Amino acid sequence: MVRPPPIIRVTLLLSLLAAPPAGAGEPLPSAATLAGNCIVCHSPAADRQSKVPPLSDLGADGIAAAMQAFKSDRRRGSIMNRIAKGYGDEEIARIAAYLAHPGERRK
Ligand code: HEC
Repeated sequence: MVRPPPIIRVTLLLSLLAAPPAGAGEPLPSAATLAGNCIVCHSPAADRQSKVPPLSDLGADGIAAAMQAFKSDRRRGSIMNRIAKGYGDEEIARIAAYLAHPGERRK
């Protein structure tokens, strides 16, 4: 077998290095997937008698601000402090934007 000249070998090696390692480069969970965890309790269709407050009136900024307040324990809740701590700032922003406009399909 003929060995490829060094320049080709280096190019092949670089192309291998550039390839994403297995498991990396997977897409982030979509906003819809993330927000699905919230809709279990905060159903957009929930009747207003529910103990769980509806979120659609708060707007994206209101939802995100409340989540940050729960996350930092500035605001106390029965369950939301634990839930909010499970999300990063970027995820909270995406969830809030999604929940504020439940009719829109966002990535
Ligand atoms: C297990 C049920 C449950 C789940 C799941 C849940 N919540 Fe809540 N949420 C509550 C309850 C109950 C409250 C009232 C505060 C408390 O007791 O913790 C609340 C309060 C809130 C509030 C404040 C509402 C207001 O009117 O001030 C926001 C914002 C909120 N949740 C966002 C979310 C988001 C975003 C998610 C998903 C990441 C989520 N919640 C998941 C039950 C839930």
